Amino acid sequence: MGTRKGMLLVILGQALVAFLFIDARLAAQQMAPPQAAKSMVPENPSEHPAPVQPLPYSHKRHLALGLECKMCHTNPEPGKLMTFPDTTKCMQCHVAVARDKPSIKKLAEYAKSKQMIPWVRVYTVLPGVAWTHGAHLNAGVKCETCHGQVREMDTMAEVTSVTTMYACLNCHEMNHAKSACDTCHKH
Ligand code: HEC
Ligand code: HEC
Ligand code: HEC
Ligand code: HEC
Ligand code: HEC
Repeated sequence: MGTRKGMLLVILGQALVAFLFIDARLAAQQMAPPQAAKSMVPENPSEHPAPVQPLPYSHKRHLALGLECKMCHTNPEPGKLMTFPDTTKCMQCHVAVARDKPSIKKLAEYAKSKQMIPWVRVYTVLPGVAWTHGAHLNAGVKCETCHGQVREMDTMAEVTSVTTMYACLNCHEMNHAKSACDTCHKH
């Protein structure tokens, strides 16, 4: 009797495990992004060390504080640029936070002299190619699609190949956006 009951429990237990396993797999399938979204902007196949910046600013560390991209990157008219933040944005916290660290002393000097910090650019489109952030943000393309997992990055590097013609065209074709040459090469 006792062993039979035990057997039944084992079988029930196995059924439950199997059920949970299938359920978890189904959930994972439903949550996985569609294939197309995954390859919309391929990774950068070349070596892409992060450039040495004037200050060791970390996206990972700052975004973990709950800050949003738009606090530091806006998209003013005519919509081309995302821009870099003014030192006053940084000093909102750093008047007090970590003020004795050498990097923050340097930050305070930039702020005092009202200079823009000379950040080294990471992504650049060939001059002369028609590029704007605005059209892409309006179309609902996410920052991460083109710039990768910024929230995980201690140093910013060119992790995607978004500045290449192949990447532009590939995504335009997938999204039925304009792909004629003069979309990006005006005369
Ligand atoms: C607290 C301010 C701040 C926030 C918030 C912030 N950034 Fe930045 N971002 C910077 C600074 C400063 C730089 C320049 C230094 C560097 O490249 O790391 C930068 C550089 C970048 C660059 C490189 C641009 C180039 O071509 O040189 C990208 C891309 C970027 N940020 C994306 C994002 C995204 C996406 C988010 C939100 C998930 C975000 N940032 C949130 C301050 C910020
Ligand atoms: C919302 C508050 C906040 C804002 C805004 C902010 N920071 Fe920070 N920052 C922090 C905190 C918190 C730390 C972690 C301090 C620590 O570890 O002692 C930090 C750390 C740093 C460090 C590393 C300090 C070190 O040497 O350990 C640098 C450099 C830095 N921030 C630069 C910037 C720059 C540049 C900006 C503007 C683009 C900025 N921060 C905006 C809160 C902020
Ligand atoms: C469709 C792809 C795409 C999307 C979406 C995108 N970017 Fe960019 N981003 C680029 C390209 C390409 C460049 C280089 C542009 C150039 O050379 O002027 C760039 C440059 C930048 C720069 C530096 C130059 C500038 O524009 O001032 C920052 C900062 C930046 N992006 C942040 C962001 C943030 C934040 C978001 C989301 C709100 C975002 N990007 C969304 C492709 C994209
Ligand atoms: C992740 C997808 C994606 C990537 C990558 C991408 N685009 Fe786009 N692009 C779009 C979408 C979607 C639109 C909006 C189409 C619409 O509104 O009809 C658009 C619109 C545009 C427009 C405006 C077209 C018009 O006149 O209406 C230009 C110009 C443009 N992209 C250039 C570029 C360039 C240059 C690159 C590469 C440096 C690039 N795009 C990369 C998806 C992308
Ligand atoms: C969606 C945007 C987009 C479209 C559409 C597009 N290109 Fe490009 N093209 C680019 C970008 C971005 C670059 C720069 C690539 C780089 O720096 O690696 C480029 C570079 C080039 C170059 C080499 C650089 C130069 O300007 O001298 C040629 C040639 C070129 N494209 C021709 C064409 C032709 C022909 C078509 C139509 C069949 C076309 N492109 C359509 C975005 C586009």
